[in-house]
Amino acid sequence: MRHLIDPTDLTVEETARIIALAEDIIAHRDKYREACKGKKLATLFYEPSTRTRLSFTSAMLELGGEVIGFSDAASSSVSKGETVADTVRVIRCFADIIAMRHFKEGAPLVASQYAGIPVINAGDGSHAHPTQTLTDLLTIKREKGRLDHFTIGFCGDLKFGRTVHSLIKALSRYEGIEVILISPEELRLPDYMLHEMSAGSCLRFREVRTLEEAMPELDILYMTRVQKERFLDEEEFNRVKDSFVLDPEKMAAAKSDMIVLHPLPRVNEIARAVDNDPRAAYFRQVENGKFVRMALIHTLLEWAGDNRPFERTPVFGEEFVTEGAACPNARCIAATEDVDPIFRRGSDGVCRCAYCEAKAE
Ligand code: CP
Repeated sequence: MRHLIDPTDLTVEETARIIALAEDIIAHRDKYREACKGKKLATLFYEPSTRTRLSFTSAMLELGGEVIGFSDAASSSVSKGETVADTVRVIRCFADIIAMRHFKEGAPLVASQYAGIPVINAGDGSHAHPTQTLTDLLTIKREKGRLDHFTIGFCGDLKFGRTVHSLIKALSRYEGIEVILISPEELRLPDYMLHEMSAGSCLRFREVRTLEEAMPELDILYMTRVQKERFLDEEEFNRVKDSFVLDPEKMAAAKSDMIVLHPLPRVNEIARAVDNDPRAAYFRQVENGKFVRMALIHTLLEWAGDNRPFERTPVFGEEFVTEGAACPNARCIAATEDVDPIFRRGSDGVCRCAYCEAKAE
């Protein structure tokens, strides 16, 4: 059974096929009106969402399928203490495919172990957001005409920004990409990602502290919101919340064909005055999210019918370890639910929790 838990669960070829299908859906909407007739999508959202949940809903409806689910876990039996594993064992009786967003890192991976139907990670804590990555890749392809040979700047909250983590991981498999990481010290990309980028990927990267020093080089600027909900200390949030604001003055230093992406929602990191700049692609990006989710649902249901095997090739090289390690991450699903301990040892020899990628103890 194929799931999408991490962006690298799809090979580069499979990713290209889903992007090509999304482009075909855009060009021939009528052809797909009944593509998922008789199928049901369950949207299990334990954390707030506007774009992801509604674009999944809209995607399934436009494919002729139906949608069930919840957008507030408090209204489900989760509030009585039901586990993720039990919840999806129940949902599989009612639906053909699941899209799950959860505040606990690794929850969708647990769901995929028990569901018996395809599970899509719609965002787990600050860990991963693979369907946002597909959205970003489709947008880059449509706006720039390619998925390689460009310079991309990631700006803002690189520590908690799951969309950044997933997109960097996906881009590490394409050639000629230079990454510029623009963040305050407190919001740097997690160490494990910096390490993986330097040890095992073909990405070239460097870190800077101001947007101004990166701006003239960029083909793509990926802005992010500082994720208030992930901070344990409000004072620390207040110190970094306004670190970067993109405004017309900064845009003046950028290339004429640079594009600005943002997974949204934004707070104040992009001034409203930038919205009318043709290089602001973030609302076009939202619409691409619906088309690429249509392509993904269609593909995963087809693969479930064919019993297609998992073809994942590890990006950085790894082996699985099941004993003698513990996950120290309080945000991991392993901290609150009784899950099988699974760890991966990467090519760097470091053992990490398979659910959240925290370094094992
Ligand atoms: N980009 C994104 O995940 O938005 P939502 O939180 O509104 O789903």
